[in-house]
Amino acid sequence: MDAMVRSSLPQSHHEDAAGHRAAGNFRRRSQQASQPMTMARRFLLAGILSFAGTWCPAAGAAVPVCLAKSPSTSQMAGLGKQIFFDRTLSASGKMACATCHDPRYAYGPPSGLAVPPGGPDLRSPDYRAVPSLRYTLDRVPVWTHVGASNPIEQFTETNEVPAGGYTWDGRFNFLHAQAMLPLFSSVEMDNRNAGELAARLSRAPYAGTFRAMFGKDILDHPALAVEKATLAIEQFELHDRSFYPYTSRFDEWLDGKAKLTPQELRGKKLFDDPNGGNCASCHLDEVGANGAHPLFTDFQFEALGVPRNDEILWNSNPHYYDEGLCGPFRTDAASRDPSNCGLFRTPTLRNAAIRHVFFHNGRFHSLHEVLQFYVERDTNPERWYPISPDGKVAKFNDLPPQYRRNVDTTDAPLNRRLGEKPIWSERDIDDVLAFLRTLVDQDLAKKELAPPAGSTDVPSRGRTGVKAAKASPHRQYLVTH
Ligand code: HEC
Ligand code: HEC
Repeated sequence: MDAMVRSSLPQSHHEDAAGHRAAGNFRRRSQQASQPMTMARRFLLAGILSFAGTWCPAAGAAVPVCLAKSPSTSQMAGLGKQIFFDRTLSASGKMACATCHDPRYAYGPPSGLAVPPGGPDLRSPDYRAVPSLRYTLDRVPVWTHVGASNPIEQFTETNEVPAGGYTWDGRFNFLHAQAMLPLFSSVEMDNRNAGELAARLSRAPYAGTFRAMFGKDILDHPALAVEKATLAIEQFELHDRSFYPYTSRFDEWLDGKAKLTPQELRGKKLFDDPNGGNCASCHLDEVGANGAHPLFTDFQFEALGVPRNDEILWNSNPHYYDEGLCGPFRTDAASRDPSNCGLFRTPTLRNAAIRHVFFHNGRFHSLHEVLQFYVERDTNPERWYPISPDGKVAKFNDLPPQYRRNVDTTDAPLNRRLGEKPIWSERDIDDVLAFLRTLVDQDLAKKELAPPAGSTDVPSRGRTGVKAAKASPHRQYLVTH
């Protein structure tokens, strides 16, 4: 199937995975319910676009005249691409979206730093690891969490597991809303207000295109100009083929055009086994009923109890915790539900084999280590967590003690006991690694061999000379959509 067609299909429900879940954590559910939401978002977006892209010079002009002047999707995407790569849109003059989301690294981080440095002088440390933007963006369902409305429901399946939304905590439903975050965050591109960004846009080489598309005075109206810029970025992210290549060996294998080695196939079996790795229950890997190739995520939220990471400057404050769905960045009703604390959205595993930063806090720097953590978290916790003053292993130490019970201890392989044998041997781990390497796209295939230039795998906090910046979260910029 053609890659464009493939990527435009909503991800379909994976029956085996639903079966796995029935046997495991009762809260995990198929995401069938969220499929229509994905479509709903597309329609809503189309509505916003045809409105936002409309330029009506004369008040009361006939609708067809307005529509005739609205820029096409590909014009918008072309402009969005220029904005995505434009470093001059940042306070430092050196940071574009592509600085952190580097296309040469699957639109993920080009370095081994747990969190990227940003801000006015590129010395302010960020809060979370940079996710890859390849594959998932046009299939992320809108945020949903059907909570229990009464105590009886809490014990039944009506208490739906949270799913969807952009970023590790799902707090944005639209890419144009998400794009506001990096543009205005004081630890990222650091525009102080819409006026500053509009001034930067008006000095860009594509300012003429921008005016031609949205009206000659557009850059004199900062809030409107910023809105158009983020809508253009969104079109680039949703439609540019570079985000949806489907050129991995795994894709070729699904299409019957390549063979996997016996080792890779064995790795897949271990990955799928509901009583073994059970990875596929969250990192879905089956072709959908509509032929859509899998994305290796179900877009649901889980607490895995990833160990605290000292490389993150903010963690030097013992009272600072990144609790995912329940804050600090998420501030809606979901953030006030204690059962949400510690949950993060399941990332894709496509191209994970070229990453050097894993999990929301970048705690691990090799895929091998991640796999070891999964199988040894409960059998050998002393390998992964520090010893607390009382001599006990401080398990799940990146969460305040009252939320540690939210960590998943029911889904295999996270349901083992202290001292039991890890579910995988070293050989098993090697086989699963071999399988995960089949998920690397052709254009990136050489990347996994060497760490990225100029990076260290375990950077120290002092090395980047980061400032002890103010303990305030990202500068928030309110959006209405
Ligand atoms: C300083 C590094 C940095 C820069 C610059 C940056 N990002 Fe990000 N990006 C991140 C981090 C870190 C996250 C995770 C944020 C979170 O979970 O709160 C993220 C998350 C995202 C996501 C959510 C992905 C998902 O799977 O949900 C999108 C989309 C995104 N960024 C797009 C952009 C765009 C567009 C720009 C430029 C306007 C940009 N980013 C600039 C670091 C960066
Ligand atoms: C219960 C659901 C679930 C299961 C089962 C599961 N994962 Fe995950 N996986 C997640 C979530 C959620 C995260 C992000 C957690 C975080 O950052 O705090 C994650 C993160 C990862 C990452 C890091 C990717 C990145 O870009 O940072 C890798 C690699 C990974 N999982 C591999 C596996 C493997 C291999 C297995 C099987 C042994 C597995 N997972 C089983 C939910 C799951």
